[in-house]
Amino acid sequence: MSIKLSFAKVVLSYVFEGSGLKKKAYIIGMGSYLPERVLTNQDLEKMVETSDEWIVSRTGMRERRLAREDEFTSDMGLAAAKKALKSAGKMASEIDVIIVTTLTPDYLFPSTAALIQCALGAQQAAAFDVQAACTGFLYGLSIAKGYIESGMYKNVLVIASEKLSSIVNYRDRGTCVLFGDGAAACVVSGEAKGYLIKEICLGADGELAEFLMLPAGGCRRPASHETVEQGLHYISMSGKEVFKHAVRRMENAAKECLEKASMKEEEIDWLVPHQANERIIDALAKRFGIAEEKVFKTVAKYGNTSASSLPIALDELICEREIKPGENMMLLAFGAGFAWGASILTKSEGGL
Ligand code: UT7
Repeated sequence: MSIKLSFAKVVLSYVFEGSGLKKKAYIIGMGSYLPERVLTNQDLEKMVETSDEWIVSRTGMRERRLAREDEFTSDMGLAAAKKALKSAGKMASEIDVIIVTTLTPDYLFPSTAALIQCALGAQQAAAFDVQAACTGFLYGLSIAKGYIESGMYKNVLVIASEKLSSIVNYRDRGTCVLFGDGAAACVVSGEAKGYLIKEICLGADGELAEFLMLPAGGCRRPASHETVEQGLHYISMSGKEVFKHAVRRMENAAKECLEKASMKEEEIDWLVPHQANERIIDALAKRFGIAEEKVFKTVAKYGNTSASSLPIALDELICEREIKPGENMMLLAFGAGFAWGASILTKSEGGL
């Protein structure tokens, strides 16, 4: 009986997919927001013992953007979301659910998504946050893809926004040169235009959590005079360990994603990786065998903006380059958790 049932399921799914009836998810609108204030390497030279030469040669970074004191993750996310809605030709009232991915929420609770839902006037939308550090956008996108493909929702707004300057110790040269603030957002829908989200592969390894973390402020070490005195509310990172894993994990995720999509490396026209370090990006590009001009980088201008790094780069790529229908992009991310992911997007006719 169960064999018959499984056979029937296989036949049904074959007929369903073959007939083109299976719902697919598309990015139909995108937008990003970068705060105005620029922090240059020269500014950092005046704050800690560092040099423009060290920062450029070790990271590729020259500048990063910092939010105003009175500008928060929800404000930047809102600005990016408005642009994404405009680009998708959607009203806030058409959004069914808002997913915000961030490791610097306005509050531990309520969610930043709920704050943006209110500010956007999207009263009918459900709203929640997802935390997967620098890989957050791909985790959020995977949920949106699932909602659309299952038919549960029609339009999903995915927002990645970070005010990393609020958790960076500007006395620690090992981390303060790396991070910046910014946001990006996209509308995911079943309307066949923009970019098809062809495949997404995700992974994590919590054994390595201690290499990149915010030690205090959670329930293990609630905020206290001691935690503040010890600087435990700042990002703590073992850069070398993170670097090693970043390249290997993203490379493997890319391979897994290609395999799942039955595609070859040569079919990837654009590589859009997380913007943590130009050396990591170059190592990936080399292993991928992709031409330099096909690898999109924003790391020099914005540094590492965690969850929003990848979608900010994606938004700029879409705006600045001519992406032809049928061309494929590989998105890659890696960060705290450790958590990582890869996704393949295919440009369709029309839209973005
Ligand atoms: O987004 C999440 C994922 N994050 C990442 O992927 C980050 C991955 N890691 C990295 O990008 C790199 O490890 C860093 C850029 C963070 C560091 O580069 P590194 O080549 O691994 O340098 P290091 O940490 O081994 O430090 C080398 C030296 C040390 O001095 P000694 O011990 O050799 O005398 C550091 O103290 O460079 C020193 N150093 C600095 N010198 C000038 C560290 N930071 C600085 C600085 N300016 N800002």
